[in-house]
Amino acid sequence: MIAKFGSSWLGVWLLLFGVVLSSCRSSDAAKTEAKPAAGSTSAPTATADAIKIGLLAPFSGSFASLGAQIEGGVKAYLETHGGAVDGRKVELLVRDTTGIAPDVAKRLAQGLIVRDQVDFIAGFALTPNAMAVAPLATEAKKPMVIMNAATSSITTKSPYVVRVSLTLPQVTAPLATWALKNGIRNVYSLVSDYAPGADAEAQFRKTFEAAGGKLVAADKVPVNNPDFAPFIQRIKDAKPEAVFVFVPAGTQGIAFMKAARERGLSEAGIRIIATGDLTEDQQIDAMGEAALGVVTTHHYSAAHASPENEAFKAAFGKVAGAQLRPNFMAVGGYDGMAAIAAVVQKLGPGKIDGDKAMEAFKGLELASPRGPIRIDPETRDVIQTVYVRKVEKRGDSYYNVEFEEYPAQKDPGK
Ligand code: PHB
Repeated sequence: MIAKFGSSWLGVWLLLFGVVLSSCRSSDAAKTEAKPAAGSTSAPTATADAIKIGLLAPFSGSFASLGAQIEGGVKAYLETHGGAVDGRKVELLVRDTTGIAPDVAKRLAQGLIVRDQVDFIAGFALTPNAMAVAPLATEAKKPMVIMNAATSSITTKSPYVVRVSLTLPQVTAPLATWALKNGIRNVYSLVSDYAPGADAEAQFRKTFEAAGGKLVAADKVPVNNPDFAPFIQRIKDAKPEAVFVFVPAGTQGIAFMKAARERGLSEAGIRIIATGDLTEDQQIDAMGEAALGVVTTHHYSAAHASPENEAFKAAFGKVAGAQLRPNFMAVGGYDGMAAIAAVVQKLGPGKIDGDKAMEAFKGLELASPRGPIRIDPETRDVIQTVYVRKVEKRGDSYYNVEFEEYPAQKDPGK
């Protein structure tokens, strides 16, 4: 079992503005427990009042870019805020969930909560992992900050869950509204076959059909390594006006766009509309011209014009390298860290009390790089503007350029 998960270890200490971030990755829960995170308890500069954050995300496998983006976002916040939260050191204990692996996520979370005694667990790019960990948050009364995982019901799985990122229904409903307003009446739905895909399809159908549109077919592609070619052929045969797509951020968008181009989807007169996961900022340049004109709805674009976004991008470049463009996962990491900082400040000195922390998250407002956000006190989910964007070329690069917005969107999924 241990061999199955490999045994790579990396203990890294970063001294950043006098603040220690302990960063230790392992895909092996047993090893994580046997071997404390390098320096998490023994660093000379760590003190008893340090804030410990366990960061769980995929850093290996096909979803590795999601973890790198989230971690980059968290570190970008610390970079721009002197690395400290209310004068307290931050220890970041980073764990690699390896991909969609609920059992691995659960074991790693258990280690962070029980052995490492973290104050917050955070990260969570992928829904199945977040779902698996939520009961542990309840049991330990440990605040769990979701920085991406976007299935609506996650926040209902524990009163200790707060989400700063998005929900699929939240970004999908405005797309269905926009499509109908812009003359698209027949749509074929194509989503990844797991909970976020089911959420996206259900919300698109609900909003689109309530306003008079018709979903002519709804297909699901395997969540891992789908071959899009046969699906594209089926879409062409059905001759809809548009295909609505949800695939998770990472490598799948490129695979979809490649198959769509090779099989002549746009030549057949079929438009692509999608949630912003398809054309996410890290991958969009690799899609190139094939993505031009694709309309998506989402909460963040690197092209968003605001001083907060410029500051965020500069900080992200410093910690993650200027060649990596931050995407919405990075913003989730940044805002999740900002939310934790605000809560620590509200609570004042002393050990973080899980119940008081959750009260402090409720109603929290932040000036995010994406625009203003607020945590709904009833649902602990994020309220935010959803933007309609079109892929355009600027210089040598491709961007999701915002051209319409739906402000103050709550999650309509619950
Ligand atoms: C999720 O698993 O909840 C998820 C992952 C990637 C996305 C969106 C949602 O782009």
